[in-house]
Amino acid sequence: MIPTREECLRLMDAYGMLENIVAHSLEVARVALFLSTELNKKGQKLDLGLVEAASLLHDLTKTECLQTKEDHAQTGSQLLKGMGYERIGDVVAQHIWLCKEVDPSSVSEEEIVNYADKRVMHDRIVSLEERFSDLKKRYGRIERSRDYLERLQKEIYGIENKIFYILQMNPGDLPDLHLDRN
Ligand SMILES: [Fe+2]
Repeated sequence: MIPTREECLRLMDAYGMLENIVAHSLEVARVALFLSTELNKKGQKLDLGLVEAASLLHDLTKTECLQTKEDHAQTGSQLLKGMGYERIGDVVAQHIWLCKEVDPSSVSEEEIVNYADKRVMHDRIVSLEERFSDLKKRYGRIERSRDYLERLQKEIYGIENKIFYILQMNPGDLPDLHLDRN
């Protein structure tokens, strides 16, 4: 079961998400949908409805987690699974860390949402390099967080290489998409 875009927007509204997190989620959805549509043209079999809904809802509980310090990937996933959105819950659970083995020849919805989230800083498309340097500035003061970010960064570069090898595109071509907005 996958909610429509309108249902997702209603849910985002109902959960009182901060405006900047809504703007971030809308941009993540745009990037994720663009990549998925292009990947499907190259023979991938991504479920576009799932990609869009999971992108829109990936930070559904982040606003409250800023207070409670809970892991919003986990609480968001549980909440969505509780609503019957099992697959969306799976994708949301992995939007920070991927826990599946990477298949070198196919791209999953989990990888797309995870990657799109890393390419959108606030509501702007950036390179992985820029996104991680911002994250390191914000969270990298503690050694453990720095190591964590290093591992995360390594993982996501592998996904980027796979996606753009299939697309025969340059990761830097994404900002053009941003300029085309409206
Ligand atoms: Fe998040």
